[in-house]
Amino acid sequence: MPAWRALPSVLRDAHRTFVDVGNWSNGDVVRIGLGVSRPYLVTNPAHVHEVLQQKAAIYPRGDDTAMWRSVRKFVGDGILAEGATWAASRRTLAPLFRPTRINAMVDAMADAIAVAVDELDASAATAIPIDVGRELSRIVCGVITRTFFAGRITVEQALTIMAAQETIVTAMAPRILAPFVPWWLPMPGDRRFRDAVRAIDDILLPVLRGALREPGDGDDLLSALARGRTEDGDPLSEKQMRDDLVSMVAVATETSYVALTWLWPVLANHPDVASKLYDEIERVVGAGPVRADHLPALTYTKMVLEELLRLYPAGWFVPRRAAADDVLGGVRIDKGATVILSPYATQRMTAWWGPTAELFDPERFAPGRAAGGERHRYAHYPFGVGMHRCLGEHLFNLEAVLIVATLLNRFRFTVTDPSIPRIKVAGSLRPARRVEMILIPVERSATR
Ligand code: HEM
Repeated sequence: MPAWRALPSVLRDAHRTFVDVGNWSNGDVVRIGLGVSRPYLVTNPAHVHEVLQQKAAIYPRGDDTAMWRSVRKFVGDGILAEGATWAASRRTLAPLFRPTRINAMVDAMADAIAVAVDELDASAATAIPIDVGRELSRIVCGVITRTFFAGRITVEQALTIMAAQETIVTAMAPRILAPFVPWWLPMPGDRRFRDAVRAIDDILLPVLRGALREPGDGDDLLSALARGRTEDGDPLSEKQMRDDLVSMVAVATETSYVALTWLWPVLANHPDVASKLYDEIERVVGAGPVRADHLPALTYTKMVLEELLRLYPAGWFVPRRAAADDVLGGVRIDKGATVILSPYATQRMTAWWGPTAELFDPERFAPGRAAGGERHRYAHYPFGVGMHRCLGEHLFNLEAVLIVATLLNRFRFTVTDPSIPRIKVAGSLRPARRVEMILIPVERSATR
């Protein structure tokens, strides 16, 4: 079995190292030497399928992998956990994500996005650079407070929560990079992590208790949790509801805005793609505003977003723990071993994507190409595979098209620094620097 002594390169550039290891082993299961910790890296789409779906019972999330343990300290034991608690959460939450429910909300989402984008007019008029991450967070919070909270939390509260989450995902980095350090030993970031968790609870717990006093029969997140039941038919405990609420706010906001932040430097480096995107949005949406019935025709926009999630999958790191001995791709995996799956690595490997694997090329997702059997089904899995597959995939796919179409229907842009940012080591795939751009209003003769 190939092994890779990786500690120095992982500390320098964890993301690059995973891709390099994948290319070097050509998709074989590799043991990476991180000092005392020696996880297996799984990059072959067939093995991804095996671990996350066919053998999901052998490979749970596990309480003791560094990332899940950090995540668990933040979100507790709900939808991001495993076993009976997870199953009750998944049962309770899944109806909120049914395509029929999400599709029915598209125009409400488009309205929330348009209201948030209106606030950019002032910066565009004065050509003041905007902080793209911050503005996208604001836009995403507008969507989430409307679609999941039925207005029970304000956009300002959602933004305070996101700022605290920012602290949490970055404070996790030392634990992810040094999983061999015991938990009783304080590490940099631990105190910031705890304070940020408390700040989030201070906002969400009163909202949750208010919803329990007056549950309502709406189909928002809080009403659904208040109606949720365990396997035995009992109501969910307040702790589980709190955990699910915090998990949902975290996964619904962080991933979406982080993923979309990468788009602007990427477009700045691919003017041909940008111009095709502008043409499509102009042709389909015209003077706007963007509505649900525009979505089916925004095919190139969808291709661009699929390619963006191939190269910049917000959930870049998906660890599991072997609950029993196993053999994977001919390699023996001992019970208790950590197995790391990384959509980031698999989606950039030459073995599955050819010699131009790391080039941004939306044509890879032209209708018919993926379905035509050109690549393995799980060579692209930004939303995971199997029973834990992302609940928010359909929501994100619609929301992202709406956000991009609304922004580019109203503005052209220049980024202040055209280089592609380096990646920050964190629970999600964040740019290591702030992305800033200047918006230029699109002039149209017809009034809006
Ligand atoms: C770019 C956007 C997103 C990406 C790349 C993404 C990625 C992922 C991945 C890779 C997983 C699987 C984790 C695992 O197997 O352990 C996951 C799970 C999950 N995602 Fe997403 N996600 C995104 C957006 C969202 C949104 C917008 C929501 C909700 C509104 C959401 C809700 C969830 C939930 C609840 C789970 C846990 C499912 C379970 O364990 O049963 N995600 N996501």
